Amino acid sequence: MVEFRIFRFDPEKNKEPEFKPYQFEPFKGMTILEGLYHILENMDSSLAFRSSCREAVCGSCAMHINGVYRLACKTQIQILKSPITIRPLSHLPIIKDLVVDLNPFFDRFREIKPYLIPKENPPEKEYLQSVEDREKIDDWLDCILCGACYGSCPVCAQDPKYLGPHALLKALRFVDDSRDGATRERVAFVTQNSGIFRCHTIFNCREVCPKDLDPTKAIAKLKWKSVFKKF
Ligand code: F3S
Repeated sequence: MVEFRIFRFDPEKNKEPEFKPYQFEPFKGMTILEGLYHILENMDSSLAFRSSCREAVCGSCAMHINGVYRLACKTQIQILKSPITIRPLSHLPIIKDLVVDLNPFFDRFREIKPYLIPKENPPEKEYLQSVEDREKIDDWLDCILCGACYGSCPVCAQDPKYLGPHALLKALRFVDDSRDGATRERVAFVTQNSGIFRCHTIFNCREVCPKDLDPTKAIAKLKWKSVFKKF
């Protein structure tokens, strides 16, 4: 038997949130997400949570599970101690139960212009990049925008304008891209008040990233470039 203690809150109906217990028999290898679906389909159809791909690609099911931000689809019940406490991502408005409003998270992301800004007129067919240049951005490509790093970062809690580890890692991905022509503007932008120098190198973002990316290192690299590199 396992017990899930799930954060329940409907801002339109409830004054205070509560943790509701659900007990059931998990099967071998059952994930947290499968457990949530089991509850939804067999015990409580009012439970709200997000999910989509179920294979750690879309990033929809990031939540706070037994004290750590994780993807529910990638976390097996058997590795955790029961009762398993499940809360939504932090620092974002709650829509219902485990579903948060991700607009502030994506607003910060859009600010860094997460697309290539070409150096000159676009080529007729495609942008070419050497193998060596492609390798330079390898470490920054796999972000699935799940929000785990954002939820774990205390600076995001204090300063809603802080660009955040997700946006700053993506900014470096374009700064380091040989095909991009806006390096100077990008570095100048992340050096602004709510950018890289608001990061206190707390490392939480690196600890929780389900894709093993290192936003702390990306931010440190941006800091170094902004101070020592001439563009
Ligand atoms: Fe936050 Fe990560 Fe910096 S947790 S303070 S963005 S190192």
